[in-house]
Amino acid sequence: MARFVTIGEHLIKNQEGFPFATGGLTHLISSIRLAGKIVNSEINKAGLVDDIIGKLGSTNIQGEDQQKLDVYANRIFKDALEARAEVCGIASEEEDDFVAFDDQACKDGNYVLLIDPLDGSSNIDVNVSIGTIFCIYRRISPRGEKAVLGDFLQKGREIVAAGYIVYGSSTMIVLSTGQGVHGFTFDPSVGVFYLSHENLTFPEKGNIYSVNEGNYPFFDDQTKSYLKYCKEHDPATNRPYTARYIGSLVSDFHRNLIKGGIYLYPATTLKPNGKLRLLYECNPLAFLAEQAGGLATNGKTNILDMQPTALHQRCPLIIGSPSMVKEFESYIN
Ligand code: AHG
Ligand code: MN
Ligand code: MN
Repeated sequence: MARFVTIGEHLIKNQEGFPFATGGLTHLISSIRLAGKIVNSEINKAGLVDDIIGKLGSTNIQGEDQQKLDVYANRIFKDALEARAEVCGIASEEEDDFVAFDDQACKDGNYVLLIDPLDGSSNIDVNVSIGTIFCIYRRISPRGEKAVLGDFLQKGREIVAAGYIVYGSSTMIVLSTGQGVHGFTFDPSVGVFYLSHENLTFPEKGNIYSVNEGNYPFFDDQTKSYLKYCKEHDPATNRPYTARYIGSLVSDFHRNLIKGGIYLYPATTLKPNGKLRLLYECNPLAFLAEQAGGLATNGKTNILDMQPTALHQRCPLIIGSPSMVKEFESYIN
Protein backbone atom coordinates (compact mmCIF):
# COMPACT_ATOMS: atom_id res chain seq x y z
CA MET A 1 0.00 0.00 0.00
CA ALA A 2 1.40 3.38 -0.97
CA ARG A 3 1.62 4.86 2.54
CA PHE A 4 0.80 8.55 2.73
CA VAL A 5 -0.96 8.61 -0.64
CA THR A 6 -4.49 9.05 0.60
CA ILE A 7 -7.57 9.32 -1.58
CA GLY A 8 -7.67 13.10 -1.06
CA GLU A 9 -4.02 13.45 -1.95
CA HIS A 10 -4.46 11.33 -5.06
CA LEU A 11 -7.42 13.39 -6.25
CA ILE A 12 -5.63 16.68 -5.75
CA LYS A 13 -2.55 15.34 -7.56
CA ASN A 14 -4.64 14.32 -10.54
CA GLN A 15 -6.95 17.32 -10.53
CA GLU A 16 -5.09 19.09 -13.31
CA GLY A 17 -6.22 16.30 -15.61
CA PHE A 18 -9.90 16.98 -14.97
CA PRO A 19 -11.56 18.62 -17.94
CA PHE A 20 -12.94 21.32 -15.63
CA ALA A 21 -10.86 21.43 -12.48
CA THR A 22 -12.34 23.68 -9.84
CA GLY A 23 -11.83 21.47 -6.81
CA GLY A 24 -15.60 21.01 -6.59
CA LEU A 25 -15.49 17.40 -7.67
CA THR A 26 -12.73 16.62 -5.18
CA HIS A 27 -14.82 18.28 -2.47
CA LEU A 28 -17.86 16.26 -3.56
CA ILE A 29 -15.93 13.00 -3.43
CA SER A 30 -14.69 13.88 0.03
CA SER A 31 -18.31 13.96 1.22
CA ILE A 32 -18.82 10.45 -0.17
CA ARG A 33 -15.67 9.34 1.61
CA LEU A 34 -16.91 10.79 4.90
CA ALA A 35 -20.38 9.24 4.56
CA GLY A 36 -18.73 5.94 3.60
CA LYS A 37 -16.73 5.94 6.83
CA ILE A 38 -19.86 6.57 8.90
CA VAL A 39 -21.84 3.85 7.10
CA ASN A 40 -18.87 1.48 7.37
CA SER A 41 -18.74 1.95 11.11
CA GLU A 42 -22.46 1.22 11.41
CA ILE A 43 -22.23 -1.87 9.16
CA ASN A 44 -19.42 -3.21 11.34
CA LYS A 45 -21.82 -3.12 14.27
CA ALA A 46 -24.62 -4.87 12.41
CA GLY A 47 -23.91 -8.19 14.11
CA LEU A 48 -23.92 -6.65 17.59
CA VAL A 49 -27.50 -7.47 18.35
CA ASP A 50 -29.76 -5.95 20.90
CA ASP A 51 -28.84 -8.17 23.81
CA ILE A 52 -25.09 -7.69 23.25
CA ILE A 53 -24.83 -3.90 23.06
CA GLY A 54 -28.42 -2.81 23.57
CA LYS A 55 -28.15 -0.58 20.53
CA LEU A 56 -30.46 -1.64 17.79
CA GLY A 57 -33.82 -1.71 19.49
CA SER A 58 -35.92 -4.50 20.86
CA THR A 59 -37.67 -5.59 17.69
CA ASN A 60 -36.59 -8.59 15.65
CA ILE A 61 -33.18 -7.83 14.24
CA GLN A 62 -33.56 -10.11 11.21
CA GLY A 63 -34.90 -8.21 8.22
CA GLU A 64 -35.80 -5.21 10.35
CA ASP A 65 -32.21 -4.22 10.92
CA GLN A 66 -31.29 -4.83 7.30
CA GLN A 67 -34.04 -2.48 6.25
CA LYS A 68 -32.85 0.04 8.81
CA LEU A 69 -29.33 0.03 7.41
CA ASP A 70 -30.60 0.69 3.87
CA VAL A 71 -32.49 3.71 5.11
CA TYR A 72 -29.68 4.77 7.42
CA ALA A 73 -27.08 4.66 4.62
CA ASN A 74 -29.38 6.66 2.38
CA ARG A 75 -29.79 9.36 5.02
CA ILE A 76 -26.07 9.60 5.78
CA PHE A 77 -25.09 9.99 2.11
CA LYS A 78 -27.91 12.44 1.48
CA ASP A 79 -27.04 14.60 4.50
CA ALA A 80 -23.30 14.57 3.77
CA LEU A 81 -23.90 15.60 0.16
CA GLU A 82 -26.32 18.34 1.11
CA ALA A 83 -23.92 19.69 3.74
CA ARG A 84 -21.03 20.00 1.26
CA ALA A 85 -23.31 21.70 -1.28
CA GLU A 86 -21.54 20.51 -4.43
CA VAL A 87 -24.58 18.67 -5.80
CA CYS A 88 -27.92 20.30 -6.55
CA GLY A 89 -29.72 16.99 -6.05
CA ILE A 90 -29.54 13.25 -5.77
CA ALA A 91 -31.41 10.21 -7.04
CA SER A 92 -31.34 7.13 -4.85
CA GLU A 93 -32.69 3.61 -4.84
CA GLU A 94 -34.24 4.49 -1.48
CA GLU A 95 -36.13 7.59 -2.72
CA ASP A 96 -39.23 7.32 -4.90
CA ASP A 97 -38.39 10.53 -6.72
CA PHE A 98 -35.20 12.53 -7.16
CA VAL A 99 -34.35 14.93 -4.34
CA ALA A 100 -33.67 18.54 -5.39
CA PHE A 101 -31.94 20.37 -2.54
CA ASP A 102 -33.57 23.68 -1.57
CA ASP A 103 -30.56 25.40 -0.10
CA GLN A 104 -29.19 28.13 -2.40
CA ALA A 105 -25.61 26.86 -2.00
CA CYS A 106 -26.80 23.47 -3.31
CA LYS A 107 -28.77 25.10 -6.13
CA ASP A 108 -25.48 26.71 -7.14
CA GLY A 109 -23.84 23.26 -7.30
CA ASN A 110 -22.54 21.95 -10.59
CA TYR A 111 -23.36 18.27 -10.16
CA VAL A 112 -25.98 15.63 -9.48
CA LEU A 113 -25.30 12.26 -7.88
CA LEU A 114 -27.08 8.94 -8.30
CA ILE A 115 -26.65 6.27 -5.66
CA ASP A 116 -27.47 2.79 -4.47
CA PRO A 117 -26.67 3.50 -0.80
CA LEU A 118 -26.52 -0.16 0.22
CA ASP A 119 -26.16 -2.81 -2.43
CA GLY A 120 -26.57 -6.49 -1.61
CA SER A 121 -28.34 -5.58 1.59
CA SER A 122 -29.92 -9.02 1.93
CA ASN A 123 -26.37 -10.16 2.78
CA ILE A 124 -26.05 -7.96 5.89
CA ASP A 125 -27.56 -10.38 8.33
CA VAL A 126 -25.31 -13.22 7.15
CA ASN A 127 -22.08 -11.20 7.45
CA VAL A 128 -21.31 -11.15 3.72
CA SER A 129 -19.80 -8.22 1.80
CA ILE A 130 -22.07 -5.40 0.71
CA GLY A 131 -21.43 -2.07 -0.98
CA THR A 132 -22.40 1.41 -2.09
CA ILE A 133 -22.51 2.39 -5.79
CA PHE A 134 -22.61 5.95 -7.13
CA CYS A 135 -22.05 8.10 -10.18
CA ILE A 136 -21.80 11.84 -10.74
CA TYR A 137 -22.94 13.99 -13.69
CA ARG A 138 -22.65 17.65 -14.49
CA ARG A 139 -26.14 19.08 -14.27
CA ILE A 140 -27.81 20.22 -17.49
CA SER A 141 -30.28 22.62 -15.83
CA PRO A 142 -29.02 26.15 -15.12
CA ARG A 143 -26.94 26.68 -11.99
CA GLY A 144 -28.75 28.58 -9.28
CA GLU A 145 -32.02 26.76 -9.93
CA LYS A 146 -33.43 23.53 -8.53
CA ALA A 147 -32.39 20.23 -10.10
CA VAL A 148 -34.79 18.77 -12.69
CA LEU A 149 -35.49 15.21 -13.81
CA GLY A 150 -33.42 15.68 -16.98
CA ASP A 151 -30.30 16.19 -14.85
CA PHE A 152 -30.62 12.57 -13.75
CA LEU A 153 -31.72 10.96 -17.02
CA GLN A 154 -28.38 11.38 -18.79
CA LYS A 155 -26.63 8.61 -20.68
CA GLY A 156 -23.85 6.78 -18.85
CA ARG A 157 -21.45 8.24 -21.43
CA GLU A 158 -21.88 11.61 -19.73
CA ILE A 159 -20.68 10.38 -16.32
CA VAL A 160 -17.96 12.56 -14.83
CA ALA A 161 -16.98 10.23 -11.99
CA ALA A 162 -18.21 6.94 -10.60
CA GLY A 163 -17.23 4.51 -7.92
CA TYR A 164 -18.21 2.03 -5.30
CA ILE A 165 -17.40 1.26 -1.72
CA VAL A 166 -17.09 -2.39 -0.83
CA TYR A 167 -17.59 -3.21 2.84
CA GLY A 168 -15.71 -6.49 2.77
CA SER A 169 -12.94 -8.17 4.69
CA SER A 170 -11.48 -4.72 4.34
CA THR A 171 -13.33 -1.59 3.24
CA MET A 172 -12.33 -0.07 -0.08
CA ILE A 173 -13.31 2.80 -2.33
CA VAL A 174 -12.82 2.08 -6.01
CA LEU A 175 -13.09 5.26 -8.04
CA SER A 176 -12.72 6.71 -11.51
CA THR A 177 -12.81 10.33 -12.55
CA GLY A 178 -12.23 9.31 -16.16
CA GLN A 179 -8.52 8.71 -15.76
CA GLY A 180 -8.43 5.01 -15.03
CA VAL A 181 -9.72 3.17 -11.98
CA HIS A 182 -8.00 3.36 -8.63
CA GLY A 183 -8.64 1.53 -5.38
CA PHE A 184 -8.16 2.91 -1.88
CA THR A 185 -8.19 0.68 1.18
CA PHE A 186 -9.46 1.94 4.54
CA ASP A 187 -7.10 1.75 7.49
CA PRO A 188 -9.53 1.83 10.42
CA SER A 189 -6.78 2.51 12.94
CA VAL A 190 -6.20 5.97 11.44
CA GLY A 191 -9.50 6.44 9.62
CA VAL A 192 -7.86 7.00 6.25
CA PHE A 193 -8.28 5.52 2.76
CA TYR A 194 -4.83 4.80 1.30
CA LEU A 195 -4.11 4.24 -2.38
CA SER A 196 -3.70 0.46 -2.61
CA HIS A 197 -4.67 -0.47 -6.18
CA GLU A 198 -3.42 2.01 -8.75
CA ASN A 199 -4.73 1.61 -12.31
CA LEU A 200 -6.97 -1.40 -11.85
CA THR A 201 -7.60 -3.15 -15.16
CA PHE A 202 -9.74 -6.14 -16.02
CA PRO A 203 -7.72 -9.16 -17.12
CA GLU A 204 -8.53 -9.54 -20.84
CA LYS A 205 -10.04 -12.91 -20.03
CA GLY A 206 -10.66 -14.72 -16.76
CA ASN A 207 -12.31 -17.97 -15.91
CA ILE A 208 -15.06 -16.87 -13.52
CA TYR A 209 -18.71 -16.57 -14.46
CA SER A 210 -21.16 -15.04 -11.99
CA VAL A 211 -24.89 -15.48 -12.44
CA ASN A 212 -27.88 -16.52 -10.36
CA GLU A 213 -28.31 -19.82 -12.15
CA GLY A 214 -31.47 -20.55 -10.18
CA ASN A 215 -33.09 -18.35 -12.83
CA TYR A 216 -32.00 -20.77 -15.58
CA PRO A 217 -35.50 -21.93 -16.63
CA PHE A 218 -36.46 -18.30 -17.24
CA PHE A 219 -33.47 -17.35 -19.44
CA ASP A 220 -33.77 -17.23 -23.23
CA ASP A 221 -32.24 -20.02 -25.31
CA GLN A 222 -29.15 -18.01 -26.29
CA THR A 223 -28.30 -17.24 -22.67
CA LYS A 224 -28.87 -20.89 -21.80
CA SER A 225 -26.52 -22.04 -24.54
CA TYR A 226 -23.86 -19.54 -23.38
CA LEU A 227 -24.12 -20.91 -19.83
CA LYS A 228 -23.82 -24.42 -21.19
CA TYR A 229 -20.65 -23.28 -23.01
CA CYS A 230 -19.24 -21.93 -19.69
CA LYS A 231 -19.56 -25.41 -18.21
CA GLU A 232 -18.14 -27.48 -21.06
CA HIS A 233 -14.80 -29.20 -20.69
CA ASP A 234 -12.22 -27.63 -23.01
CA PRO A 235 -8.75 -27.18 -21.49
CA ALA A 236 -7.60 -25.08 -24.48
CA THR A 237 -10.06 -22.31 -23.52
CA ASN A 238 -9.76 -22.87 -19.78
CA ARG A 239 -13.25 -24.29 -19.52
CA PRO A 240 -15.25 -25.16 -17.57
CA TYR A 241 -15.22 -21.71 -16.00
CA THR A 242 -15.52 -21.35 -12.24
CA ALA A 243 -18.90 -20.28 -10.85
CA ARG A 244 -18.81 -17.51 -8.23
CA TYR A 245 -21.92 -15.61 -7.14
CA ILE A 246 -22.07 -13.61 -3.91
CA GLY A 247 -25.39 -11.91 -4.57
CA SER A 248 -23.88 -8.47 -3.88
CA LEU A 249 -23.31 -6.86 -7.26
CA VAL A 250 -20.49 -4.66 -5.93
CA SER A 251 -18.61 -7.63 -4.47
CA ASP A 252 -19.15 -9.82 -7.52
CA PHE A 253 -17.95 -7.01 -9.79
CA HIS A 254 -14.95 -6.25 -7.56
CA ARG A 255 -13.77 -9.87 -7.52
CA ASN A 256 -14.13 -10.19 -11.28
CA LEU A 257 -12.28 -6.90 -11.83
CA ILE A 258 -9.31 -8.23 -9.91
CA LYS A 259 -9.37 -11.86 -11.01
CA GLY A 260 -10.99 -11.64 -14.44
CA GLY A 261 -14.52 -12.82 -15.12
CA ILE A 262 -18.00 -12.05 -16.34
CA TYR A 263 -21.10 -11.09 -14.32
CA LEU A 264 -24.54 -11.64 -15.82
CA TYR A 265 -27.99 -10.55 -14.69
CA PRO A 266 -29.89 -11.26 -17.91
CA ALA A 267 -33.52 -10.69 -18.76
CA THR A 268 -35.84 -13.49 -17.65
CA THR A 269 -39.38 -14.35 -18.63
CA LEU A 270 -40.41 -13.18 -15.14
CA LYS A 271 -38.28 -10.01 -15.29
CA PRO A 272 -38.03 -8.98 -18.96
CA ASN A 273 -35.73 -6.07 -18.06
CA GLY A 274 -33.66 -8.02 -15.58
CA LYS A 275 -33.41 -6.88 -11.98
CA LEU A 276 -30.66 -4.31 -11.76
CA ARG A 277 -31.29 -0.59 -12.00
CA LEU A 278 -29.75 1.26 -14.95
CA LEU A 279 -29.07 4.61 -13.32
CA TYR A 280 -27.36 3.75 -10.06
CA GLU A 281 -26.23 0.14 -10.48
CA CYS A 282 -25.49 -0.59 -14.16
CA ASN A 283 -24.25 2.81 -15.36
CA PRO A 284 -21.65 3.46 -12.64
CA LEU A 285 -20.24 -0.04 -12.95
CA ALA A 286 -20.27 0.17 -16.76
CA PHE A 287 -18.29 3.42 -16.55
CA LEU A 288 -15.77 1.80 -14.19
CA ALA A 289 -15.61 -1.30 -16.41
CA GLU A 290 -14.73 0.73 -19.50
CA GLN A 291 -12.22 2.80 -17.57
CA ALA A 292 -10.65 -0.51 -16.51
CA GLY A 293 -10.58 -1.90 -20.06
CA GLY A 294 -13.71 -4.03 -19.60
CA LEU A 295 -17.14 -3.96 -21.25
CA ALA A 296 -20.79 -3.74 -20.22
CA THR A 297 -23.82 -4.55 -22.36
CA ASN A 298 -27.52 -5.23 -21.97
CA GLY A 299 -27.14 -7.92 -24.64
CA LYS A 300 -27.91 -5.54 -27.50
CA THR A 301 -26.52 -2.14 -26.61
CA ASN A 302 -23.52 -0.89 -24.68
CA ILE A 303 -24.92 0.11 -21.26
CA LEU A 304 -23.32 3.58 -21.48
CA ASP A 305 -25.19 4.31 -24.74
CA MET A 306 -28.67 3.61 -23.35
CA GLN A 307 -30.95 6.62 -23.09
CA PRO A 308 -32.59 6.48 -19.64
CA THR A 309 -36.32 7.18 -19.51
CA ALA A 310 -37.12 6.68 -15.82
CA LEU A 311 -35.25 6.98 -12.53
CA HIS A 312 -35.71 3.40 -11.39
CA GLN A 313 -35.69 1.64 -14.74
CA ARG A 314 -34.15 -1.80 -14.85
CA CYS A 315 -31.97 -3.34 -17.49
CA PRO A 316 -30.14 -6.60 -18.14
CA LEU A 317 -26.44 -6.40 -17.31
CA ILE A 318 -23.55 -8.42 -18.69
CA ILE A 319 -20.26 -6.94 -17.54
CA GLY A 320 -16.63 -7.84 -17.09
CA SER A 321 -13.47 -8.92 -18.88
CA PRO A 322 -13.65 -7.67 -22.48
CA SER A 323 -13.10 -10.92 -24.32
CA MET A 324 -15.61 -12.73 -22.10
CA VAL A 325 -18.32 -10.13 -22.75
CA LYS A 326 -17.58 -10.39 -26.49
CA GLU A 327 -17.81 -14.19 -26.20
CA PHE A 328 -21.25 -13.78 -24.61
CA GLU A 329 -22.29 -11.37 -27.40
CA SER A 330 -21.31 -13.89 -30.03
CA TYR A 331 -23.93 -16.22 -28.55
CA ILE A 332 -26.61 -13.56 -28.54
CA ASN A 333 -26.10 -12.20 -32.04
P1 AHG B 1 -30.00 -4.16 -3.57
O1 AHG B 1 -29.56 -4.79 -2.28
O2 AHG B 1 -29.44 -2.77 -3.74
O3 AHG B 1 -31.49 -4.22 -3.78
O4 AHG B 1 -29.33 -4.95 -4.79
C1 AHG B 1 -29.41 -6.37 -4.84
C2 AHG B 1 -28.98 -6.80 -6.20
C3 AHG B 1 -27.49 -6.98 -6.42
O5 AHG B 1 -26.65 -6.55 -5.41
C4 AHG B 1 -27.32 -8.46 -6.59
O6 AHG B 1 -26.32 -8.73 -7.53
C5 AHG B 1 -28.65 -8.91 -7.04
O7 AHG B 1 -29.58 -8.04 -6.47
C6 AHG B 1 -28.94 -10.31 -6.60
O8 AHG B 1 -30.17 -10.68 -7.07
P2 AHG B 1 -30.71 -12.19 -6.98
O9 AHG B 1 -30.93 -12.45 -5.53
O10 AHG B 1 -31.96 -12.17 -7.81
O11 AHG B 1 -29.63 -13.08 -7.57
MN1 MN C 1 -28.24 -2.82 -5.46
MN1 MN D 1 -29.62 -1.09 -2.44
